[in-house]
Amino acid sequence: MTRELPTGWYTDEELAYLLSALRRRQPRVIVEVGSLFGRSALAIAQAMRPTAHLLCVDIWPDERVFNAFTYAVEQAGLSERVTPQHMSSIEAASVWQSKIANQKSKIDLLHLDGDHRSLGVYLDIREWLPCLAPDGLFIGHDWGLDSVQFGVMQARAEGLLREVGVSDVQRHGKPALWWGLPGTTGT
Ligand SMILES: C[S@@+](CC[C@H](N)C(=O)[O-])C[C@H]1O[C@@H](n2cnc3c(N)ncnc32)[C@H](O)[C@@H]1O
Repeated sequence: MTRELPTGWYTDEELAYLLSALRRRQPRVIVEVGSLFGRSALAIAQAMRPTAHLLCVDIWPDERVFNAFTYAVEQAGLSERVTPQHMSSIEAASVWQSKIANQKSKIDLLHLDGDHRSLGVYLDIREWLPCLAPDGLFIGHDWGLDSVQFGVMQARAEGLLREVGVSDVQRHGKPALWWGLPGTTGT
């Protein structure tokens, strides 16, 4: 890591996996769902190319956590390139969908680390899918949770994801992250 990151749920090894996907793809438009104090967000923002932009979506139920997030972004000098969106993932996806007609580009990389319940994971994939570029990538944390696996596999079963894979990086003996290539929206 180039500089100290806020506290959070990502280990350094897991972040390295996330950042290797980022560096391979060189995304221009990145969305993160579930930012908390900004650990993964700042890691992404420090590694993304200079012209890229990161939108961070979180419900931030505790205002102090939101303030800590914005402070960390400011201290890192990244306020111009990281935009917090203080709302639920589904609301943010709907805002994005309504703007999409006028948007030149879709999302290249969508990092999912928000609602880890199976329905939440499934809905995140379903609702953000229309906003993702056809060659975009979903990458999500906590594959080791059954609920995350159920949500992802439900989306896979419905064709919302055309391919799913998991990281070699492990946590408690299970892959720590998953990735998915966008399928069809069914619309
Ligand atoms: C595991 S933490 C994220 C950890 C963070 N990525 C890190 O690097 O430490 C999950 C976050 O998702 C947020 N969250 C949970 N459900 C959400 C939802 N439906 N929409 C947006 N954010 C949500 C929570 O407020 C919390 O900050």
